[in-house]
Amino acid sequence: MQWSKNLELGVAKIDAQHKELFVQADKLLDRSQQSRIPQTLDFLKGYVVKHFSAEEALQKISLYPKAPFHHGLHVDFVNKFKKLYDQFLSAGEKLTVVMAINSMVTNWLKDHILVHDKEFADYYIKKMGLQKR
Ligand SMILES: [Fe+2]
Repeated sequence: MQWSKNLELGVAKIDAQHKELFVQADKLLDRSQQSRIPQTLDFLKGYVVKHFSAEEALQKISLYPKAPFHHGLHVDFVNKFKKLYDQFLSAGEKLTVVMAINSMVTNWLKDHILVHDKEFADYYIKKMGLQKR
């Protein structure tokens, strides 16, 4: 699954990071990138944490009331990802796990962005008096 325009929230930094996550997840299924799967997974693991911190920092400065709940969703994702990442490390048949990671990451992100990040972005844009692009 690729990033698409309907996932754009109007907060440039968050949108750019969401796009990057889709690009990286997509690499997992790209034949020409197959030898780099361990590096891609490693990058994703770090980038997800970095992205969530950036999002949570914006929630903090804008006093977003649902920040603790949203943080909980991020923690759930990190745990899910870690579980699959460990499976990847220990699996003999890695392709199945890689495909599971790709679909977990992209499906979770899509649902999360459209509901929870969108709710936050709308709040943030209004609260900070930003212009929606
Ligand atoms: Fe989020």
